[in-house]
Order: sequence, then C-alpha cells, then structure tokens
Amino acid sequence: MTQRGGQRGGGGDAGRARARKPVRDEARNTAYDVLRAVDERDAYANLMMPKLIRDRRLSGRDAALATELAYGTLRGLGSYDEIIAACSDRPPEDLDAPLLDAIRIGVHQLLKTRVPPHAAVGTTVDLVRLRVGTGPSRYANAVLRKVATRSLADWLPIVSPDPDDDLVGNLAVTHSHPRWIVTALRDAVGGDAQETAALLDADNERPRVTLVARPGRSTVEELAESGAAPAAYSPYAAYLPEGDPASVPAVAEGRAAVQDEASQLVALALTRVPLDGGDSSWLDMCAGPGGKAGLLDALAVQGGGHLLAADLQYHRARLVWRTTRDASVIVADGLAPAWREGAFDRVMLDAPCTGLGALRRRPEARWRRDPAAVPELAALQGRLLDSALDAVRPGGVVAYVTCSPHLAETQVVVGDAIGRRDDVEVLDAREFLPEVDELGPGPHAQFWPHRHGTDAMFLALLRRRSG
Ligand SMILES: C[S@@+](CC[C@H](N)C(=O)[O-])C[C@H]1O[C@@H](n2cnc3c(N)ncnc32)[C@H](O)[C@@H]1O
Repeated sequence: MTQRGGQRGGGGDAGRARARKPVRDEARNTAYDVLRAVDERDAYANLMMPKLIRDRRLSGRDAALATELAYGTLRGLGSYDEIIAACSDRPPEDLDAPLLDAIRIGVHQLLKTRVPPHAAVGTTVDLVRLRVGTGPSRYANAVLRKVATRSLADWLPIVSPDPDDDLVGNLAVTHSHPRWIVTALRDAVGGDAQETAALLDADNERPRVTLVARPGRSTVEELAESGAAPAAYSPYAAYLPEGDPASVPAVAEGRAAVQDEASQLVALALTRVPLDGGDSSWLDMCAGPGGKAGLLDALAVQGGGHLLAADLQYHRARLVWRTTRDASVIVADGLAPAWREGAFDRVMLDAPCTGLGALRRRPEARWRRDPAAVPELAALQGRLLDSALDAVRPGGVVAYVTCSPHLAETQVVVGDAIGRRDDVEVLDAREFLPEVDELGPGPHAQFWPHRHGTDAMFLALLRRRSG
C-alpha cells in the first residue's frame, strides 16, 4: 500500500494541502472506483471488488482495506449522509456524486474504522484532489474536520428522528437502511423494535463464509482438514474462518461449495418429508445459479433418484450445469412448463424475490431495491407456486422458498395459494428442521441473520392432495 501513515495533522490546512503533491493510495482509490461503478453503472460491489483487486494486484493488506472501505461505506451511507448534511452547508443530494462518494469513504474511516483521524481526513483530501479537483478537496477537508469532532455514537442521536415521534425513521438512520425496508423487516419480525434493531444490525455485519460438503462427494471432516469448523445446524455445513474458499480442494473440485446454511437446510427439509409411493423424480424449478440444486442433486443420487434443474435464463442454467454432477439441466420457463403435470415427487421452488434476506451479502442492494417491485414479484411468485403445485404428483411435496422475509413474498403468497386451491395441505416446516430453534410460530419456517447467523430465508412445505 502507498501508506503515508500519520505524517500530517487533521488533513493539513488548505494552503499546505495545495502546496504538497497529493499521494495516490491504491486501497482508497479502489474503494472509490467501486463506489463510482455502483453509482454510475449499477455495478455489483461484490463482483467488482475482486476483479479490481486482481487487475491491480493489490497486496493482501490493501485488498482487505479496499474491501472494508467500499463495503462498509455502501452499508453505512444512510447514516453517513445524515451526518454529512449536518456538517455541510449543502445537502448531500446537491453535491456532485464523485465528491459525495469520496467524502462518504472519509466519513466511514473516521467513524467506523481504526484509521487515525488525521490519516482518514488527509487520504480523503488527497483522493478528492486527484480524482475530483482541488476546489472540492477544500470542501471535503472542511466537512470531514467537522465530522471528526464526534464519534458515530454521538452523531447518531443528533441526526436521527426522535424514536418516540418516528421509530421507523430513527431505525432507518441509526442502522442505515431505507425506511420501507425497516418497515417490512419490522412487520416480518412481528413488530418488536428491539428485535428489528438486532436484525438491522446483523444486516450491517459481514456474513461468515459457510461451505457445504455435498453428500457422497465430500464430508465436513474433509473440510475441517482445510481449517473449516463444523457448523451449528446443517449436517453438511462448515464455517471457513479465513482464506479463499477456492483454495479448499473439495471446493476447487466441485465436491463442496460455498452455500449459506439456511439455503442448505431448506433443501434438506424438502428431502426429509416422508412420501407414500415413488420418490425418484425431483424438480428444482428456479435453480440458477445452483446452490440448492447442487445439494439436491447429491441427495437425489444417494436415494437412487434424479434431479431436473430448470432456469429461465440461459446463463443461470449454465451455472447450474457447472455446479451439479448428475442432474439434468434445462432452460425453461416455470410458467410454461416443459414437463407434464404431476411428473415429480418433490419440487423445490426457490422463487425470484427482493432478496431482503441477503442484504448482508450485497452491500449496495438495500439502496437499489425498489418497493414497487414487491407486488410485481409477489404476483410472479404466486403464479410460479401454482405451477410448482401442478408439477408435483398427488401426495408429493413442494418447498416454497424465498431469500426474503417480506410478508408479501412469504406468508401472503402461500396463504393466497391455499385460499385458491383445494388440493394443498400445509405441513409444519419446523418439524423437518429439528436441529434449529426459533424458526417462528409456524407452520412455516423463517431463518434470521440475528438469530441463526444465516440469510433470512423462508420455507413453506406444501403437500399436494388428490383432487
Ligand atoms: C432466487 S434465484 C434461485 C436461487 C437458486 N435456487 C440457488 O439456490 O442458487 C431465482 C431464479 O429464478 C429464475 N427465474 C425467474 N423467473 C423464472 C421462471 N419464470 N421460470 C424459471 N426460472 C425463473 C431466475 O433466473 C433465478 O435464477
């Protein structure tokens, strides 16, 4: 890293900053480029960052700092923008986007990292001079010096609404989430303010890396030899505390993979429901990129069965094809099925959704999601669920899964399907997950980051009755 350490106090005064040549800092520069790409090109930070780290050959330390600055800034910018507004004569929305992004990176360093204040201010002023301009760098210097006068804990009560007047607004600012998501998550946890706050906090943490040992192909013991620790719930899961998952031999060879523990457990629960009659034909209707299909494929083979994995999009189906070994993979629209009615014993429907249960994984996602998408997705989910129920034979079982706890995408979709069909029996999904507590009041199961350390995945298990 081009590390300047703490050679300058508080960013220096504007005169000194002008006289001195700015220093280019690769970690901060890279974090800035990721933020600009997210803003200008709708890039995904978690795809962009590894690419830039590779292309620029950043050292391990610079890579870690760039990642922390980009992801942390993206997660925290709801709080940071309120603090910037309090320290500036212009509201953040009136600042040029490149300047605002650089200032946000400076605020993150000041309020959320151990970077010394003088280095946080000085490196940001240099970044602005190099990437935005000298005039804006003086502005950034003035704003950041004001920000540096308080800690995050001291700023938040000053810049957030009084919780007695506006609880949602207070949680939105203090935990850096859009209001509509705070409301949706509060409703999903049952209205409790403390639990909502714990959930929002968990969204701001980096998720641990969880591996799946695909049954019959690898074991948790094998993963442990690479430094992973057996996980809390899934018999196939192990947590990898550090290092690149691709360097684990079983992962490199496709016998194991990265997969959230809740994602493993919802697939496992589908396979645990006892069936009368045949049990050899399974369908994963929305399979891309193939996390659940990889596990279902291995489990199907162990039981002498076969998985058909479908996805609407060719490139997503290709990813499924690459990650599964024995499954048949097709490009198909679940709404215009390429299979006959009642063809399957078990159907996984992991429906397209808002992804509000995986906000930890995609730092910018919370700002990009549009609440208007919820009713559109809910309508699609309902139609896909009907199609999944048609695809399963009488006596067979459908898992309806979303990586969102939004009630409109979970309880309401399932409730509506039950209301319009007379061939559906709702099972208590929690019975098929005996190793996990606190999955909610039932009959469906809801995982939570703040309770289980997993994504907030929802599972309903529905058996198709005859006629
Ligand atoms: C939530 S993702 C599935 C994740 C996957 N099950 C896994 O565990 O990796 C939803 C998938 O549904 C696919 N999809 C959306 N509409 C579809 C449709 N009408 N028919 C089939 N697949 C669809 C999307 O392309 C996307 O890959």
